[in-house]
Amino acid sequence: MKTVGILVGREKTFPQALIDRINERGAGEVVAEYVEVGGVRLDEGRRYDIIIDRISHEVPFYRAFLKRAALEGTQIINNPFWWSADDKFFNYSLAVKLGVAIPKTALLPQKDYIEGITSESLRNLEFPLDWQGIVGYVGMPAIIKPFDGGGWKNVSRVNSIEELWQIYDTTGTLCMTLQEFVAFDQFVRCYCIGQEEVMIMPYDPRKPYLSGEQYIQDPNYLSAALAERITNDVRTLCRALGYDINTVEFAIKDGIPYAIDFMNPAPDAELASVGEFYHNWVTDTVVNLVFKRLAEPQTEVRYRWDAMLNPRPIETATQAMSAVASAAQQSVSAIIPESGREIAADIAAGVSDLVEGAANAVSGILGRSGETEASPDATAKTPRAASARTPKSAAPRKSASKSATPRTKKPTPEV
Ligand SMILES: Nc1ncnc2c1ncn2[C@@H]1O[C@H](COP(=O)(O)OP(=O)(O)O)[C@@H](O)[C@H]1O
Ligand SMILES: [Mg+2]
Repeated sequence: MKTVGILVGREKTFPQALIDRINERGAGEVVAEYVEVGGVRLDEGRRYDIIIDRISHEVPFYRAFLKRAALEGTQIINNPFWWSADDKFFNYSLAVKLGVAIPKTALLPQKDYIEGITSESLRNLEFPLDWQGIVGYVGMPAIIKPFDGGGWKNVSRVNSIEELWQIYDTTGTLCMTLQEFVAFDQFVRCYCIGQEEVMIMPYDPRKPYLSGEQYIQDPNYLSAALAERITNDVRTLCRALGYDINTVEFAIKDGIPYAIDFMNPAPDAELASVGEFYHNWVTDTVVNLVFKRLAEPQTEVRYRWDAMLNPRPIETATQAMSAVASAAQQSVSAIIPESGREIAADIAAGVSDLVEGAANAVSGILGRSGETEASPDATAKTPRAASARTPKSAAPRKSASKSATPRTKKPTPEV
């Protein structure tokens, strides 16, 4: 008998659907259940063949437990070692090297540092920062967002250098990126499962977050050529980063799909939020991945960091094949939905209960995403007023200081 453990946050319908469908298909040979874990011992043996992790990106204890389980040969979806290593700025930089279109993006030194970091500790830091140069490169309007964020938290649109400083002054110890704002004509969010199966979801980020209204079903939303390019980009990114469950978001402008967010290890799959069609697709596709992985021969665990980051041997033959696969072949498993869907209002309301206020606030700002003109209240989402707008105050603090902006918990499921 094989065992599949599910590690979850607040989401309900997706993990339960996974458990039900795995147990149904497993017919006693494969059993799925919620993981239960307390104090973890050094000598703890293998309890699960696979763990599907939906929450360790927000719970360090879980992540440490998962790394330990990986040493016993448990396959973890997604790889907890890679999550520990990844960040959005690295993602963007890698994507550029892989030929995926990325809006101009700069990494910013933090505004504040943890206690004990003094100006002496930061002697390598350029001071003052060349704000004009950074803004000249990225352009305005721009989006300022954490380099490892999720759930639309601490994401703001800024229309001028003054607004940038105002927001930057509130970011505390968060490491931020500044990214060219793409005044998109179209927007899609794409699931990618097992680094192969792609589902392109037309998506309207201007609608309320997790309202059930963001996901649209329109089989003709993208031209065939754009759908093909996006499918290829999604696979390229997820294979390079090794995510088995991920979403890749594209803001499309003048026919170019710019990838803006592809570090989503536990993407939303709740029934009321994504709708029945997408919920069922992602559930079935993850279940297929689980059974595929269970059927594959187990490779011996190698105790080196690079083996931990990539525990499965690279399937060079398969990769070479997919690299030369025809457009028709590549599009076989990329699906654009055909059927419509409806969500009961009470289900949608239930889900929105789970969402923290910050996430809703951002959609107000991003509601102007499709517009090109600057909006005066575009920075309104930041919870606390900035103390100053001067370049001086916007300079990274070189003295020891605690974060003025304590990081709050991200909502689950994330976006
Ligand atoms: N460069 C950009 N251009 C236009 N809109 C953006 C850009 N970056 C982010 N956004 C908007 O902000 C939302 C949240 O940003 P995102 O990068 O996806 O962060 P998170 O990881 O928190 O979801 C996106 O869904 C999109 O609507
Ligand atoms: Mg996102």
